[in-house]
Amino acid sequence: MSQLRLELLTEAHLDDVEQLLGDPEVLRFTRLPDPAVPGYALEWYGRYQAARQKGTAETFAAVAPDGTFLGVALAPHIDAEAREMELGYMVAAAARGQGVGSEMLRQLTSWAFTEGGAMRASLLIDVANVPSQRVAVRAGYTLEGVLRSSYFKQGLRSDVQVWSRLPSDG
Ligand SMILES: CC(C)(COP(=O)(O)OP(=O)(O)OC[C@H]1O[C@@H](n2cnc3c(N)ncnc32)[C@H](O)[C@@H]1OP(=O)(O)O)[C@@H](O)C(=O)NCCC(=O)NCCS
Repeated sequence: MSQLRLELLTEAHLDDVEQLLGDPEVLRFTRLPDPAVPGYALEWYGRYQAARQKGTAETFAAVAPDGTFLGVALAPHIDAEAREMELGYMVAAAARGQGVGSEMLRQLTSWAFTEGGAMRASLLIDVANVPSQRVAVRAGYTLEGVLRSSYFKQGLRSDVQVWSRLPSDG
């Protein structure tokens, strides 16, 4: 699926995003509210739009050559002064297992290091999220360690791996 492209997320993607935010794997492994809140995609998008203006976060839709929505690639935390970004990704259920997540992360990382000027990109991945760990490996990330019993959401804690990639990793 190397032909996919990332485009800035806009309101045109919100129906697809709403569906994605209700997906069981997304609810299990991301900080989005569980159970899903109807209409939450618009609120979530509004927050990202405000952060985009400030340069503290960015979000993209991954789209196939025929226009099919494949998922969301995002930088939930951008620290411009430190030149560091946390990155993340969610693939639409129908598009999983075809290399989409790996290609999204490759392109997102490339954006972070070029247009974003980042000197460090990081990922936070639950120890139970094996597919996401495979995505990290395939996109050239290095496992740095595990944050034990780290606050996750809604009173939940979990063990979370920290992965990173530097521009000099080649
Ligand atoms: C994690 C996620 C992004 C992976 O996307 P994807 O498009 O299916 O990923 P890829 O097709 O690039 O596959 C990546 C690897 O995961 C493996 N994989 C896929 N599903 C798996 C499963 N259920 N169990 C174990 N491995 C699995 C694939 O075989 C592949 O491994 P390989 O490199 O050994 O071949 C997707 O499952 C997802 O959106 N999950 C919910 C949201 C999420 O967890 N986001 C990440 C938060 S850190």
